[in-house]
Amino acid sequence: MLIAGNWKLNKTLKETKDFFKEFNKLVSKTQNMILVCPSFPCIPAAREYALKKIFIGAQNVFFEEKGEFTGEVSVSQLKSFCDFIVLGHSDRRNKFSESNELINKKVKAAMKSNFNVILCVGETLNERNSSKTNSVLEEQLTKSLSGVALKKLFIAYEPVWAIGTGKNASKEDIIQAHSFIKQTLTKLFGEKGKKIQILYGGSVKPENAKEILSLPNVDGVLVGGASLDPKKFAEIANHKK
Ligand code: 13P
Repeated sequence: MLIAGNWKLNKTLKETKDFFKEFNKLVSKTQNMILVCPSFPCIPAAREYALKKIFIGAQNVFFEEKGEFTGEVSVSQLKSFCDFIVLGHSDRRNKFSESNELINKKVKAAMKSNFNVILCVGETLNERNSSKTNSVLEEQLTKSLSGVALKKLFIAYEPVWAIGTGKNASKEDIIQAHSFIKQTLTKLFGEKGKKIQILYGGSVKPENAKEILSLPNVDGVLVGGASLDPKKFAEIANHKK
């Protein structure tokens, strides 16, 4: 099980240190893999203050190594601090207009440097209501993973309408989407595709994590809001299957 926290644009340096002071004590015995993804300036502190067994990740990266790309961060700049990179989050797709083609370049750059990549996919409410969920997921997966030599890849299914809304997807929605993602990954990568772990994200909280984590083809969760609170995130991270 991978229990991942995406802090988005939250927490200062001091808040990052304070979080781990409390969180470390609460998760010292868990068997799950735990990942925390702070914003760039807090990544080194997170690496320093988190227990060694906690993985640290970035929320984005640029695909070029160096040059005239003001405001961007490269894969090798992250290498000393991070193990994971989250790519294609719906915030990036919808608020920063990232296309599948751009995400594809980022996935390739991160994989080339041996990062664990968490590729996020998910449909908007409009797309769901017009029965386009499967075609959107298929297009996002196929284009974002085009020409990718498979290495350490996780997929996060994050229906956009369930993010930060308090409305998590129903059991049936999650089962259906995860099974469709598995089928698509198998089409793209054969047997290897079947083994790619799939996380669910969207209003995961201590109260619903147990049920979500018990569903078929759910190999972990990607948590936003609840990962900011050390007690709530530890409750999710300590889940036993
Ligand atoms: P929330 O858990 O706040 O809904 O956010 C989910 C998410 O976007 C994680 O990447």
